[in-house]
Amino acid sequence: MNAEKKIHKTDFLVIGSGIAGLSFALKVANNFKNATVTIVTKNEKNECNTKYAQGGISTVWDKTVDSFEQHIEDTLIAGDGLCDEKVVKMVVESAPDRLRELIEWGTQFDKTKDGSYSLGREGGHSQDRVLHHKDITGAEIERALLQQVENTENITFLNYHYAIDLITEHQLKQKQTKRKGKITCYGAYVLDEKKNCVKTFSAKVTMLATGGNGQVYSTTTNPVIATGDGIAMAYRAKAEISDMEFIQFHPTALYNPGEYPAFLISEAVRGEGAILRNYNGDRFMHNYDDREELASRDIVARAIDRELKKNGTPNVYLDCTHIDYNAFKKHFPNITEKCLSLGIDIRKKYIPVCPAQHYICGGVNVSKKGKTSIKNLYASGEVTRSGLHGANRLASNSLLEGLVFSHNAAESLIKRFPKIKSPTNIPQWNDSGVVKNMEKILITHDRNEVKTIMSNYVGIVRSNERLLRAERRLKGLYEDNKRLYDYSELSTDLCELRNLITTAYLITQFSKNRKENKGGFYSADLV
Ligand code: FAD
Ligand code: SIN
Repeated sequence: MNAEKKIHKTDFLVIGSGIAGLSFALKVANNFKNATVTIVTKNEKNECNTKYAQGGISTVWDKTVDSFEQHIEDTLIAGDGLCDEKVVKMVVESAPDRLRELIEWGTQFDKTKDGSYSLGREGGHSQDRVLHHKDITGAEIERALLQQVENTENITFLNYHYAIDLITEHQLKQKQTKRKGKITCYGAYVLDEKKNCVKTFSAKVTMLATGGNGQVYSTTTNPVIATGDGIAMAYRAKAEISDMEFIQFHPTALYNPGEYPAFLISEAVRGEGAILRNYNGDRFMHNYDDREELASRDIVARAIDRELKKNGTPNVYLDCTHIDYNAFKKHFPNITEKCLSLGIDIRKKYIPVCPAQHYICGGVNVSKKGKTSIKNLYASGEVTRSGLHGANRLASNSLLEGLVFSHNAAESLIKRFPKIKSPTNIPQWNDSGVVKNMEKILITHDRNEVKTIMSNYVGIVRSNERLLRAERRLKGLYEDNKRLYDYSELSTDLCELRNLITTAYLITQFSKNRKENKGGFYSADLV
């Protein structure tokens, strides 16, 4: 792997092109017309979790039927006592303004016949408050944001550019810039996959917007890009990380063996009245929670897990047969089509579903302004632990989180940015000592092994014994990967594997340290 003999200087380096990265890039590019903004993203420009979001974005839109207090209360209940109340209040109260802005940027949300916005309901919400675009809300948001970015002159967009590591004092030749105890971020090393070289990006401000790490599990709704790169990079740079044990499993992924990632059957379908039935066709949610199908996700996923284990079956069913078909098809055309393609006519047949990893509540600690513990490193979206979600995220609060924290970060930089000096003495990527004899299949084996370990031992129901097994096996994988990483030619696959192992290990360690069952963390030994 060659290191390019040039330093790429940019004012803002944005890593990731989902809702968090794109909205931040737009904001700072517009706030500072003379500044340079570079977005690097590792795949196609629109490939990200955001693109697959179905249900929508929650906001208190109509104060005659809903209130900030209720949205706050629902978020706190879902978070199982571990949310930061001040953060929840700030996000909920900012939501309408951020949504209006998203609409100004061209996002089309569905409307009712009278011209008002159609509001959906999802688990854990006491009111209809989810703005949506059919069942492809994320794709619509991504479309609108990308169009805005394309029309913004001072943004450079580089796809198939994979961020390997953040640049901090650790890499500097001269360490004189390091203030006692304070680490600063100066940009990132980025692999240009097309040119097969490592580029050095020096930046005054770096925004980490790399999303989650669903790929550590065998069954996940997350696309293959979700490998926890940002969390692992920040961890290596010694940023503060927390709440990694709180993994959200979505209760209703389509049970379709062999399909990967799992196709999601939106929670909004239960919001429209769909009923969960076990393998015998019996309803069961009333045995677990008074809110039945609309209890929060952790509760519904655990209830399904219990039914599966009790009955020894691979899936339960979602019954939509009683719902008005035309209304269903209008709101959920993508889901209707997907089911039909598998021979499931939802008027006559139940949809087979089972839980799948969906979201990580923990990550890089950020303040309300999106600041990490590393100077000039900001973070927003699923890569973060902001205090909004606590132990379990309320449905449709995630897209909102990305918008709000990216906005806050950009606003706080209006005063700060002019005072930040350009980094100097940034060393290029060190490509010495590399041989090229690695069998790629080793990476595939190891990647599959991480998934198996995490699904078997760090899933919906954990235990001390399971966590110890996971820890021991992940340590072995870590050693193997370190050897490969030190001596092989660098590739995206290899770096992703390193990050998958790191974040899997963090989830396991944080789980071992948690002494009380909360939200998305449940150990059979703590009951
Ligand atoms: P992402 O949208 O995942 O973007 C991350 C970006 O970083 C990508 O562009 C990726 O390629 C890039 N990247 C990652 N690593 C690197 C690297 N090393 N170098 C360069 N680039 C990198 N939430 C809701 O609120 N409402 C919903 O209805 C909803 N539905 C969902 C449905 C599905 C199927 C899924 C999977 C999630 C859903 N979520 C929903 C969750 C929500 O979509 C995500 O949490 C949110 O989109 C995260 O946005 P983000 O910008 O933080 O990350
Ligand atoms: C869904 O549509 O069920 C996903 C919503 C979310 O993840 O918030």
